[in-house]
Amino acid sequence: MTTDEMKRAAALAALAYVPEGAIVGVGTGSTVNFFIDALEAIRGRVAGAVSSSRASTERMARLGIPVLDLNRVDDVPVYVDGADEVSARLHMVKGGGGALTGEKIVAAMSRIFVCIADQAKKKAVLGAFPLPVEVIPLARAYVAREMAALGGRPVLREGFVTDYGNVILDVHGLTIADPVELEGRIDRIAGVVTNGIFARRPADVLLLGTPAGVECLTAQHVETLRSSD
Ligand code: 5RP
Repeated sequence: MTTDEMKRAAALAALAYVPEGAIVGVGTGSTVNFFIDALEAIRGRVAGAVSSSRASTERMARLGIPVLDLNRVDDVPVYVDGADEVSARLHMVKGGGGALTGEKIVAAMSRIFVCIADQAKKKAVLGAFPLPVEVIPLARAYVAREMAALGGRPVLREGFVTDYGNVILDVHGLTIADPVELEGRIDRIAGVVTNGIFARRPADVLLLGTPAGVECLTAQHVETLRSSD
């Protein structure tokens, strides 16, 4: 089974989490593109979508899926998004596609976060994937020094500007032992807009495409891990 087939299987499984008549939060990336394509077939059964990025908005518009202004929506029953890494506790590293700020906002508003990914994204410890940090351009060098002080090796994503006019530092070499703590610590650095650790608001459900089918991990499973600590 190819990676794309695993991504597609996870994306199709996420349709079961979309309630009839609901507004669906839509993430960004190649896995989410499979979800958007599947959403087209049921677009009459949803009230519309809210989008985490310009790229997803454009794809949905092309397919005739109505995209609503997030500022006019106060309830997002379900948010479907991919990840660059995801742990057994449903913490994630995201932002490989550079859409981390929009993703974090829609995730924060959502009642259920469904993460869709192929099996290669599941990691025992987060940090092998360089951590994206969106930074106000004025603060680029300062934030890079602060990330180096945290033990990382920041690399500017060349030629890339986010939907909000900012730059991204991809921080290599971090071992993210305590994702909740590190997410808060990086967010407190002046000039940081968003960092790609999604741990304070983790996923509620992980749908992981594997050659044997789609595995499902839920928040209940995370509770079991916690009680065995
Ligand atoms: C974009 C993201 C994506 O969810 C993440 O990069 C995974 O992408 P893909 O589904 O293409 O592997 O966070 O900012």
